[in-house]
Amino acid sequence: GAPVQADISKLEPGQRMTVEWRGRPVWIINRTPEMIERTEGFDGSRLVDPDSNVPQQPGYVTGPLRSIRPEIGVLIGICTHLGCSPLYRPEPDAVDMSGWPGGFFCPCHGSYFDLAGRVFRNVPAPSNLEVPPYRFETDDIIIVG
Ligand code: FES
Repeated sequence: GAPVQADISKLEPGQRMTVEWRGRPVWIINRTPEMIERTEGFDGSRLVDPDSNVPQQPGYVTGPLRSIRPEIGVLIGICTHLGCSPLYRPEPDAVDMSGWPGGFFCPCHGSYFDLAGRVFRNVPAPSNLEVPPYRFETDDIIIVG
């Protein structure tokens, strides 16, 4: 499939947009400073693979935020369990889980992911959400693929 272009100039802090790449949804999230802090500061022992040692991502996407720019997250919006579409639940009180840092909840069988797509322990999904290959063509234009 051809690369796809995403214009993030109107993506407000805290918002998510979706583009389609190779028939799959790609989420682009504009993380606020608070969202970044909650994600970076989250207790890694509650995550299956906090450092993405099983890399579901290109090699140039590193660190807890799993992104090129800290505020812009790019993730394939497909649960790594059986392929449902997780729901965007960015607020700390959006989910009934103590210390919820914001992220994604898959309603099919109850898997949780943080705002970097890192999967929680003791849920059906075995691995972090995938990060597709991408680059910034300009500050506002992302090329996925
Ligand atoms: Fe997401 Fe099963 S498909 S938890």
